[in-house]
Amino acid sequence: MTDSPPLELTPRMEPVIQSVLAENALLHQLADGLGSPLNIVLPEALAPNVESFRAVYRRHRLRGHIYFAHKANRSAALLRQLAATEAGVDVASLAELQHALGAGFTPDRVIATGPKNREFLWLAARTGVLVNADSLDEVSELAALVAVDRLPRVRVMVRLSGFASHGVRLISRRSRFGVPADRPAEALDRLEKHADQLELVGVAYHLDTIGQPEKAVALEGCLAAIDECRRRDVGAWSIDIGGGFGVNYLADAGQWERYTSELAQAVLGRRPPMTWNGHGYGLRNEGGTLRGALGLYPAYRPVSGPGYLDQLLATPAPEQRRPLGELLLDSMIDLDIEPGRALLDQCGLVLSRVLEVRTESSGLLVRLEMNARDVSLEEHGVLMDPVLVGRAEDEPTEVFLLGNLCLESDLITRRKVTLSARPRPGDLLAFVNTAGYFMDFSATAALRQPIGRKVALYRDDGRWGWCLDEQYWPVHERTEAA
Ligand SMILES: Cc1ncc(COP(=O)(O)O)c(C=O)c1O
Repeated sequence: MTDSPPLELTPRMEPVIQSVLAENALLHQLADGLGSPLNIVLPEALAPNVESFRAVYRRHRLRGHIYFAHKANRSAALLRQLAATEAGVDVASLAELQHALGAGFTPDRVIATGPKNREFLWLAARTGVLVNADSLDEVSELAALVAVDRLPRVRVMVRLSGFASHGVRLISRRSRFGVPADRPAEALDRLEKHADQLELVGVAYHLDTIGQPEKAVALEGCLAAIDECRRRDVGAWSIDIGGGFGVNYLADAGQWERYTSELAQAVLGRRPPMTWNGHGYGLRNEGGTLRGALGLYPAYRPVSGPGYLDQLLATPAPEQRRPLGELLLDSMIDLDIEPGRALLDQCGLVLSRVLEVRTESSGLLVRLEMNARDVSLEEHGVLMDPVLVGRAEDEPTEVFLLGNLCLESDLITRRKVTLSARPRPGDLLAFVNTAGYFMDFSATAALRQPIGRKVALYRDDGRWGWCLDEQYWPVHERTEAA
Protein backbone atom coordinates (compact mmCIF):
# COMPACT_ATOMS: atom_id res chain seq x y z
CA MET A 1 0.00 0.00 0.00
CA THR A 2 1.48 3.35 -1.03
CA ASP A 3 1.14 6.50 1.01
CA SER A 4 -1.84 8.56 -0.08
CA PRO A 5 -1.96 12.37 -0.23
CA PRO A 6 -3.33 13.99 2.96
CA LEU A 7 -7.09 14.20 3.11
CA GLU A 8 -8.12 17.68 4.15
CA LEU A 9 -11.39 18.68 5.82
CA THR A 10 -11.19 22.46 5.60
CA PRO A 11 -13.67 24.25 7.88
CA ARG A 12 -16.07 26.76 6.40
CA MET A 13 -15.00 30.19 7.63
CA GLU A 14 -16.91 33.40 7.04
CA PRO A 15 -15.02 36.74 7.00
CA VAL A 16 -15.60 37.30 10.73
CA ILE A 17 -13.59 34.20 11.65
CA GLN A 18 -10.97 34.85 8.98
CA SER A 19 -10.50 38.33 10.39
CA VAL A 20 -9.96 36.97 13.92
CA LEU A 21 -7.48 34.36 12.69
CA ALA A 22 -5.45 37.12 11.01
CA GLU A 23 -4.79 38.58 14.50
CA ASN A 24 -1.82 36.34 15.21
CA ALA A 25 -0.20 38.59 17.83
CA LEU A 26 -3.46 39.18 19.70
CA LEU A 27 -4.33 35.47 19.77
CA HIS A 28 -0.87 34.57 21.10
CA GLN A 29 -1.08 37.32 23.72
CA LEU A 30 -4.49 36.08 24.85
CA ALA A 31 -3.38 32.47 25.12
CA ASP A 32 -0.18 33.53 26.93
CA GLY A 33 -2.13 35.65 29.39
CA LEU A 34 -5.24 33.54 29.91
CA GLY A 35 -3.98 30.03 29.27
CA SER A 36 -4.77 27.14 26.98
CA PRO A 37 -7.37 26.10 26.05
CA LEU A 38 -9.00 29.45 25.45
CA ASN A 39 -12.57 29.88 24.26
CA ILE A 40 -13.31 32.86 22.06
CA VAL A 41 -16.86 34.00 21.34
CA LEU A 42 -17.83 36.47 18.63
CA PRO A 43 -21.10 38.17 19.60
CA GLU A 44 -21.21 40.22 16.39
CA ALA A 45 -21.81 37.07 14.34
CA LEU A 46 -25.18 36.42 16.02
CA ALA A 47 -27.43 39.11 14.55
CA PRO A 48 -26.94 38.02 10.91
CA ASN A 49 -27.94 34.48 11.90
CA VAL A 50 -31.13 35.70 13.58
CA GLU A 51 -31.91 37.82 10.53
CA SER A 52 -31.40 34.86 8.14
CA PHE A 53 -34.01 32.88 10.07
CA ARG A 54 -36.37 35.85 10.08
CA ALA A 55 -35.98 36.17 6.30
CA VAL A 56 -37.39 32.63 5.99
CA TYR A 57 -40.43 33.67 8.04
CA ARG A 58 -40.96 36.62 5.71
CA ARG A 59 -40.68 34.41 2.65
CA HIS A 60 -43.44 32.14 3.99
CA ARG A 61 -45.42 35.08 5.43
CA LEU A 62 -45.34 33.51 8.89
CA ARG A 63 -45.10 35.01 12.35
CA GLY A 64 -43.53 33.60 15.48
CA HIS A 65 -40.60 33.60 17.90
CA ILE A 66 -37.01 32.61 17.25
CA TYR A 67 -35.84 31.28 20.62
CA PHE A 68 -32.11 30.60 21.00
CA ALA A 69 -31.52 27.20 22.72
CA HIS A 70 -29.22 28.43 25.47
CA LYS A 71 -27.82 24.97 26.21
CA ALA A 72 -25.61 25.19 23.12
CA ASN A 73 -23.24 27.63 24.88
CA ARG A 74 -22.96 28.94 28.43
CA SER A 75 -21.54 32.31 27.35
CA ALA A 76 -22.87 35.47 29.00
CA ALA A 77 -21.57 37.63 26.16
CA LEU A 78 -23.49 35.71 23.51
CA LEU A 79 -26.69 35.78 25.55
CA ARG A 80 -26.46 39.51 26.24
CA GLN A 81 -25.79 40.24 22.60
CA LEU A 82 -28.83 38.16 21.66
CA ALA A 83 -30.92 40.17 24.10
CA ALA A 84 -30.07 43.16 21.92
CA THR A 85 -31.61 41.42 18.88
CA GLU A 86 -35.25 40.44 18.34
CA ALA A 87 -34.55 36.82 19.36
CA GLY A 88 -35.95 35.15 22.44
CA VAL A 89 -34.31 32.40 24.47
CA ASP A 90 -35.14 28.78 25.27
CA VAL A 91 -33.97 27.90 28.77
CA ALA A 92 -33.75 24.31 29.96
CA SER A 93 -32.73 24.73 33.61
CA LEU A 94 -33.28 27.02 36.57
CA ALA A 95 -29.80 28.51 36.12
CA GLU A 96 -30.37 29.17 32.42
CA LEU A 97 -33.61 30.98 33.26
CA GLN A 98 -31.82 33.12 35.86
CA HIS A 99 -29.07 33.80 33.35
CA ALA A 100 -31.52 34.83 30.63
CA LEU A 101 -33.43 37.21 32.91
CA GLY A 102 -30.14 38.74 34.05
CA ALA A 103 -28.92 39.12 30.48
CA GLY A 104 -31.79 41.44 29.63
CA PHE A 105 -34.51 39.14 28.31
CA THR A 106 -37.95 40.19 29.49
CA PRO A 107 -40.21 37.21 30.41
CA ASP A 108 -42.28 37.55 27.22
CA ARG A 109 -39.12 36.58 25.27
CA VAL A 110 -38.37 33.41 27.24
CA ILE A 111 -39.62 29.83 26.89
CA ALA A 112 -38.82 27.17 29.50
CA THR A 113 -38.28 23.74 27.93
CA GLY A 114 -37.19 20.24 28.93
CA PRO A 115 -38.06 18.38 32.14
CA LYS A 116 -38.24 20.83 35.06
CA ASN A 117 -37.81 20.64 38.82
CA ARG A 118 -40.06 22.54 41.19
CA GLU A 119 -37.70 25.50 41.62
CA PHE A 120 -37.46 25.98 37.87
CA LEU A 121 -41.25 25.83 37.56
CA TRP A 122 -41.61 28.26 40.46
CA LEU A 123 -39.37 30.91 38.91
CA ALA A 124 -41.01 30.39 35.53
CA ALA A 125 -44.46 30.91 37.08
CA ARG A 126 -43.33 33.88 39.18
CA THR A 127 -41.79 35.70 36.24
CA GLY A 128 -44.53 34.67 33.81
CA VAL A 129 -42.39 33.05 31.13
CA LEU A 130 -43.97 30.64 28.65
CA VAL A 131 -43.67 27.04 29.89
CA ASN A 132 -43.24 24.28 27.33
CA ALA A 133 -44.56 21.40 29.45
CA ASP A 134 -42.73 18.11 29.13
CA SER A 135 -45.36 15.90 30.80
CA LEU A 136 -48.86 16.03 32.23
CA ASP A 137 -47.49 15.73 35.77
CA GLU A 138 -45.50 18.86 35.07
CA VAL A 139 -48.71 20.59 33.97
CA SER A 140 -50.34 19.70 37.30
CA GLU A 141 -47.29 20.69 39.36
CA LEU A 142 -47.14 24.06 37.63
CA ALA A 143 -50.87 24.63 38.15
CA ALA A 144 -50.50 23.83 41.85
CA LEU A 145 -47.68 26.38 42.23
CA VAL A 146 -49.77 29.02 40.48
CA ALA A 147 -52.80 28.25 42.63
CA VAL A 148 -50.95 28.28 45.97
CA ASP A 149 -49.39 31.69 45.32
CA ARG A 150 -52.46 33.02 43.48
CA LEU A 151 -50.29 33.99 40.52
CA PRO A 152 -51.63 35.24 37.19
CA ARG A 153 -52.35 32.48 34.67
CA VAL A 154 -49.19 31.03 33.16
CA ARG A 155 -48.99 30.48 29.40
CA VAL A 156 -48.16 26.88 28.48
CA MET A 157 -47.40 24.77 25.46
CA VAL A 158 -47.51 20.99 25.55
CA ARG A 159 -44.61 19.10 24.04
CA LEU A 160 -45.79 16.11 22.02
CA SER A 161 -43.80 13.11 20.85
CA GLY A 162 -44.20 9.80 19.05
CA PHE A 163 -46.02 11.08 15.97
CA ALA A 164 -47.35 8.70 13.32
CA SER A 165 -48.57 9.40 9.84
CA HIS A 166 -51.24 6.95 8.73
CA GLY A 167 -51.34 7.51 4.98
CA VAL A 168 -47.60 7.09 4.38
CA ARG A 169 -46.73 4.84 7.33
CA LEU A 170 -44.02 7.09 8.71
CA ILE A 171 -43.35 7.50 12.39
CA SER A 172 -41.13 9.94 14.24
CA ARG A 173 -38.40 8.53 16.47
CA ARG A 174 -39.13 7.57 20.05
CA SER A 175 -38.36 10.21 22.60
CA ARG A 176 -38.31 10.12 26.37
CA PHE A 177 -39.65 13.68 26.40
CA GLY A 178 -43.15 14.93 25.80
CA VAL A 179 -46.74 13.69 25.93
CA PRO A 180 -47.79 10.91 23.48
CA ALA A 181 -49.07 12.66 20.36
CA ASP A 182 -51.89 10.13 19.93
CA ARG A 183 -53.44 11.19 23.24
CA PRO A 184 -54.06 14.95 22.84
CA ALA A 185 -57.45 14.63 24.51
CA GLU A 186 -55.81 13.60 27.78
CA ALA A 187 -53.59 16.71 27.69
CA LEU A 188 -56.57 18.92 26.92
CA ASP A 189 -58.61 17.40 29.76
CA ARG A 190 -55.77 18.11 32.17
CA LEU A 191 -55.46 21.70 30.97
CA GLU A 192 -59.18 22.24 31.18
CA LYS A 193 -59.03 21.12 34.80
CA HIS A 194 -56.45 23.82 35.47
CA ALA A 195 -58.01 26.52 33.30
CA ASP A 196 -57.87 29.07 36.14
CA GLN A 197 -54.12 28.64 36.43
CA LEU A 198 -52.91 27.84 32.93
CA GLU A 199 -53.56 29.18 29.45
CA LEU A 200 -52.74 26.83 26.57
CA VAL A 201 -51.08 28.72 23.70
CA GLY A 202 -49.98 25.82 21.54
CA VAL A 203 -48.15 22.54 21.07
CA ALA A 204 -44.51 21.70 20.49
CA TYR A 205 -42.00 19.08 19.43
CA HIS A 206 -38.24 18.75 19.23
CA LEU A 207 -36.77 15.81 17.36
CA ASP A 208 -33.13 14.92 17.73
CA THR A 209 -32.61 14.23 14.05
CA ILE A 210 -31.75 15.99 10.84
CA GLY A 211 -34.28 13.89 8.90
CA GLN A 212 -36.91 16.11 7.30
CA PRO A 213 -39.57 13.43 6.62
CA GLU A 214 -39.87 12.73 10.37
CA LYS A 215 -40.14 16.43 11.10
CA ALA A 216 -42.84 16.83 8.47
CA VAL A 217 -44.83 14.08 10.19
CA ALA A 218 -44.37 15.78 13.56
CA LEU A 219 -45.38 19.20 12.25
CA GLU A 220 -48.49 17.80 10.61
CA GLY A 221 -49.24 15.99 13.90
CA CYS A 222 -49.03 19.34 15.72
CA LEU A 223 -51.40 20.90 13.17
CA ALA A 224 -53.88 18.11 13.94
CA ALA A 225 -53.47 18.75 17.67
CA ILE A 226 -54.24 22.45 17.17
CA ASP A 227 -57.38 21.47 15.23
CA GLU A 228 -58.41 19.32 18.17
CA CYS A 229 -57.89 22.29 20.53
CA ARG A 230 -60.02 24.49 18.33
CA ARG A 231 -62.75 21.86 18.13
CA ARG A 232 -62.88 22.02 21.92
CA ASP A 233 -62.91 25.80 21.86
CA VAL A 234 -59.42 26.13 23.28
CA GLY A 235 -57.78 29.07 21.50
CA ALA A 236 -54.28 27.68 20.86
CA TRP A 237 -52.42 29.52 18.12
CA SER A 238 -48.79 28.45 17.94
CA ILE A 239 -46.58 25.49 17.14
CA ASP A 240 -43.02 25.28 18.41
CA ILE A 241 -40.91 22.97 16.26
CA GLY A 242 -37.79 23.00 18.47
CA GLY A 243 -34.27 23.05 17.05
CA GLY A 244 -32.10 20.78 14.93
CA PHE A 245 -31.63 22.95 11.83
CA GLY A 246 -27.93 22.16 11.69
CA VAL A 247 -24.77 23.83 10.44
CA ASN A 248 -22.59 23.35 7.41
CA TYR A 249 -19.11 22.92 8.88
CA LEU A 250 -17.05 22.24 5.77
CA ALA A 251 -16.18 24.50 2.87
CA ASP A 252 -16.04 21.84 0.17
CA ALA A 253 -18.45 18.98 -0.64
CA GLY A 254 -15.73 17.17 -2.60
CA GLN A 255 -13.45 16.92 0.45
CA TRP A 256 -16.25 15.31 2.46
CA GLU A 257 -17.09 12.79 -0.25
CA ARG A 258 -13.42 11.91 -0.71
CA TYR A 259 -12.85 11.59 3.02
CA THR A 260 -15.81 9.33 3.70
CA SER A 261 -15.15 7.05 0.74
CA GLU A 262 -11.43 6.78 1.65
CA LEU A 263 -12.47 5.96 5.23
CA ALA A 264 -14.47 3.03 3.91
CA GLN A 265 -11.40 1.90 1.93
CA ALA A 266 -9.24 2.21 5.05
CA VAL A 267 -11.70 0.13 7.09
CA LEU A 268 -11.52 -2.55 4.38
CA GLY A 269 -7.71 -2.43 4.59
CA ARG A 270 -7.34 -1.15 1.04
CA ARG A 271 -5.48 2.02 2.00
CA PRO A 272 -3.33 3.05 5.00
CA PRO A 273 -5.30 3.71 8.22
CA MET A 274 -6.75 7.20 8.66
CA THR A 275 -7.66 6.81 12.32
CA TRP A 276 -6.17 5.78 15.65
CA ASN A 277 -6.18 1.96 15.92
CA GLY A 278 -8.18 1.75 12.70
CA HIS A 279 -11.33 3.19 14.31
CA GLY A 280 -14.12 3.09 11.73
CA TYR A 281 -16.65 5.64 13.04
CA GLY A 282 -19.34 2.95 12.91
CA LEU A 283 -18.02 1.11 9.83
CA ARG A 284 -16.43 -2.32 10.15
CA ASN A 285 -14.84 -4.92 7.96
CA GLU A 286 -16.59 -8.30 8.07
CA GLY A 287 -14.55 -10.70 5.97
CA GLY A 288 -13.87 -8.12 3.28
CA THR A 289 -17.41 -6.69 3.29
CA LEU A 290 -18.16 -3.25 4.65
CA ARG A 291 -20.79 -3.35 7.39
CA GLY A 292 -22.30 -0.88 9.87
CA ALA A 293 -23.25 2.73 9.31
CA LEU A 294 -21.16 5.86 9.42
CA GLY A 295 -21.95 7.46 12.78
CA LEU A 296 -20.85 10.96 11.90
CA TYR A 297 -22.50 14.34 11.66
CA PRO A 298 -22.69 15.15 7.94
CA ALA A 299 -20.10 17.90 8.22
CA TYR A 300 -20.82 19.19 4.73
CA ARG A 301 -24.50 20.16 4.68
CA PRO A 302 -25.52 22.37 1.78
CA VAL A 303 -29.01 22.78 3.27
CA SER A 304 -28.76 23.74 6.92
CA GLY A 305 -29.82 26.42 9.39
CA PRO A 306 -32.33 28.84 7.84
CA GLY A 307 -32.17 26.92 4.53
CA TYR A 308 -33.29 23.79 6.33
CA LEU A 309 -36.28 25.61 7.85
CA ASP A 310 -37.17 26.99 4.42
CA GLN A 311 -37.07 23.49 2.96
CA LEU A 312 -39.19 22.05 5.77
CA LEU A 313 -41.86 24.71 5.26
CA ALA A 314 -41.92 24.00 1.53
CA THR A 315 -42.28 20.24 2.17
CA PRO A 316 -45.76 18.84 1.50
CA ALA A 317 -47.50 17.54 4.63
CA PRO A 318 -47.44 13.72 4.37
CA GLU A 319 -51.24 13.39 4.58
CA GLN A 320 -52.67 16.71 3.42
CA ARG A 321 -50.08 16.98 0.60
CA ARG A 322 -49.87 20.77 0.83
CA PRO A 323 -46.71 22.65 1.87
CA LEU A 324 -46.46 22.82 5.64
CA GLY A 325 -45.79 26.56 5.52
CA GLU A 326 -49.05 27.11 3.62
CA LEU A 327 -51.01 25.03 6.13
CA LEU A 328 -49.61 27.11 8.99
CA LEU A 329 -50.45 30.33 7.19
CA ASP A 330 -54.01 29.23 6.31
CA SER A 331 -54.71 28.23 9.90
CA MET A 332 -53.16 31.49 11.17
CA ILE A 333 -50.76 29.57 13.38
CA ASP A 334 -47.54 31.16 14.66
CA LEU A 335 -44.37 29.18 14.14
CA ASP A 336 -41.86 29.17 16.99
CA ILE A 337 -38.38 27.68 16.65
CA GLU A 338 -35.56 26.90 19.09
CA PRO A 339 -32.31 26.77 17.13
CA GLY A 340 -29.14 26.28 19.20
CA ARG A 341 -26.32 25.15 16.95
CA ALA A 342 -27.56 27.05 13.89
CA LEU A 343 -27.76 30.43 15.64
CA LEU A 344 -24.17 29.97 16.81
CA ASP A 345 -22.80 29.33 13.33
CA GLN A 346 -19.46 31.23 13.04
CA CYS A 347 -19.82 32.60 16.58
CA GLY A 348 -16.65 31.25 18.16
CA LEU A 349 -13.46 29.22 18.21
CA VAL A 350 -11.29 27.34 20.69
CA LEU A 351 -7.53 27.93 20.85
CA SER A 352 -5.01 25.40 22.08
CA ARG A 353 -1.28 25.55 22.45
CA VAL A 354 0.95 22.83 20.96
CA LEU A 355 3.07 21.29 23.74
CA GLU A 356 5.02 18.58 21.95
CA VAL A 357 5.53 17.17 18.44
CA ARG A 358 7.04 13.72 18.05
CA THR A 359 7.27 11.04 15.40
CA GLU A 360 6.27 7.47 16.21
CA SER A 361 5.41 4.41 14.18
CA SER A 362 1.74 5.46 14.20
CA GLY A 363 2.63 8.83 12.66
CA LEU A 364 3.31 12.39 13.78
CA LEU A 365 1.89 12.92 17.27
CA VAL A 366 1.00 16.39 18.51
CA ARG A 367 0.25 16.85 22.20
CA LEU A 368 -1.98 19.80 23.00
CA GLU A 369 -2.61 21.83 26.11
CA MET A 370 -6.30 20.82 26.13
CA ASN A 371 -8.26 17.61 26.28
CA ALA A 372 -10.97 15.97 24.23
CA ARG A 373 -13.76 17.44 26.37
CA ASP A 374 -12.50 21.01 25.86
CA VAL A 375 -13.54 20.81 22.24
CA SER A 376 -15.90 17.89 22.02
CA LEU A 377 -15.85 17.50 18.24
CA GLU A 378 -15.41 13.79 18.54
CA GLU A 379 -18.31 13.39 20.96
CA HIS A 380 -20.59 15.05 18.42
CA GLY A 381 -19.02 13.24 15.47
CA VAL A 382 -18.07 16.41 13.61
CA LEU A 383 -14.91 16.13 11.57
CA MET A 384 -12.95 19.21 10.52
CA ASP A 385 -9.30 20.23 10.61
CA PRO A 386 -7.97 22.84 13.02
CA VAL A 387 -6.18 25.92 11.70
CA LEU A 388 -2.51 26.56 12.50
CA VAL A 389 -2.58 30.19 13.65
CA GLY A 390 -0.18 32.65 12.04
CA ARG A 391 1.86 30.08 10.10
CA ALA A 392 2.34 30.38 6.35
CA GLU A 393 0.94 27.47 4.34
CA ASP A 394 3.59 24.87 3.68
CA GLU A 395 3.46 21.11 3.17
CA PRO A 396 0.04 19.74 4.33
CA THR A 397 0.89 17.51 7.29
CA GLU A 398 -1.19 14.71 8.82
CA VAL A 399 -1.02 14.40 12.59
CA PHE A 400 -2.79 12.76 15.50
CA LEU A 401 -3.87 15.22 18.19
CA LEU A 402 -3.36 14.02 21.77
CA GLY A 403 -4.94 15.61 24.83
CA ASN A 404 -3.40 16.57 28.16
CA LEU A 405 -5.13 13.92 30.29
CA CYS A 406 -3.18 10.92 31.47
CA LEU A 407 -5.63 8.61 29.66
CA GLU A 408 -5.08 6.44 26.60
CA SER A 409 -8.46 7.53 25.31
CA ASP A 410 -7.76 11.26 25.43
CA LEU A 411 -7.41 11.98 21.74
CA ILE A 412 -8.86 15.29 20.59
CA THR A 413 -10.13 13.33 17.62
CA ARG A 414 -9.50 9.70 16.68
CA ARG A 415 -8.65 10.54 13.11
CA LYS A 416 -5.54 12.05 11.60
CA VAL A 417 -6.15 15.72 10.95
CA THR A 418 -4.35 17.66 8.24
CA LEU A 419 -2.53 20.85 9.20
CA SER A 420 -1.30 23.42 6.69
CA ALA A 421 2.33 22.99 7.86
CA ARG A 422 4.34 20.89 10.29
CA PRO A 423 3.45 22.22 13.76
CA ARG A 424 6.03 23.29 16.33
CA PRO A 425 5.81 23.46 20.13
CA GLY A 426 4.39 26.87 21.09
CA ASP A 427 2.17 27.09 18.00
CA LEU A 428 -1.52 27.74 18.44
CA LEU A 429 -4.22 25.60 16.86
CA ALA A 430 -7.66 27.10 16.33
CA PHE A 431 -10.73 24.86 16.29
CA VAL A 432 -13.09 27.16 14.46
CA ASN A 433 -16.88 27.36 14.43
CA THR A 434 -17.11 25.56 17.74
CA ALA A 435 -19.46 27.87 19.68
CA GLY A 436 -22.41 25.46 19.31
CA TYR A 437 -21.97 22.60 21.83
CA PHE A 438 -18.22 22.01 21.37
CA MET A 439 -16.83 24.77 23.55
CA ASP A 440 -18.15 24.28 27.05
CA PHE A 441 -20.92 21.70 26.93
CA SER A 442 -18.74 18.80 28.08
CA ALA A 443 -15.69 20.53 29.59
CA THR A 444 -14.63 19.10 32.97
CA ALA A 445 -11.83 19.75 35.42
CA ALA A 446 -10.60 16.13 35.24
CA LEU A 447 -7.09 15.79 36.70
CA ARG A 448 -7.55 19.38 37.85
CA GLN A 449 -6.68 20.51 34.36
CA PRO A 450 -8.17 23.98 33.93
CA ILE A 451 -11.39 24.49 32.00
CA GLY A 452 -10.76 27.00 29.24
CA ARG A 453 -11.43 30.64 30.06
CA LYS A 454 -13.75 32.47 27.75
CA VAL A 455 -13.24 35.85 26.12
CA ALA A 456 -15.45 37.90 23.85
CA LEU A 457 -13.88 39.63 20.86
CA TYR A 458 -15.57 42.71 19.50
CA ARG A 459 -14.64 45.39 16.99
CA ASP A 460 -13.73 48.71 18.47
CA ASP A 461 -12.94 51.51 16.05
CA GLY A 462 -12.30 48.95 13.31
CA ARG A 463 -9.88 46.91 15.46
CA TRP A 464 -10.49 43.80 17.50
CA GLY A 465 -10.85 44.45 21.22
CA TRP A 466 -11.48 41.80 23.86
CA CYS A 467 -12.79 41.29 27.38
CA LEU A 468 -13.62 38.38 29.62
CA ASP A 469 -16.92 36.80 28.61
CA GLU A 470 -18.70 37.83 31.81
CA GLN A 471 -17.59 41.43 31.36
CA TYR A 472 -19.09 41.84 27.94
CA TRP A 473 -22.21 43.95 27.54
CA PRO A 474 -23.38 45.08 24.09
CA VAL A 475 -22.83 48.74 24.81
CA HIS A 476 -19.95 49.63 22.48
CA GLU A 477 -21.73 50.10 19.20
CA ARG A 478 -24.62 51.87 20.97
CA THR A 479 -22.40 54.49 22.59
CA GLU A 480 -20.59 55.02 19.31
CA ALA A 481 -23.86 55.47 17.44
CA ALA A 482 -25.19 58.05 19.94
C1 LIG B 1 -36.07 21.11 23.41
C2 LIG B 1 -34.87 21.50 22.58
N1 LIG B 1 -34.97 22.61 21.80
C3 LIG B 1 -33.92 23.00 21.04
C4 LIG B 1 -32.71 22.31 21.03
C5 LIG B 1 -31.60 22.83 20.17
O1 LIG B 1 -31.22 21.96 19.15
P1 LIG B 1 -30.14 22.41 18.08
O2 LIG B 1 -29.00 22.99 18.80
O3 LIG B 1 -29.81 21.16 17.34
O4 LIG B 1 -30.80 23.43 17.19
C6 LIG B 1 -32.58 21.16 21.83
C7 LIG B 1 -31.33 20.40 21.82
O5 LIG B 1 -31.13 19.41 22.45
C8 LIG B 1 -33.70 20.74 22.63
O6 LIG B 1 -33.62 19.66 23.41
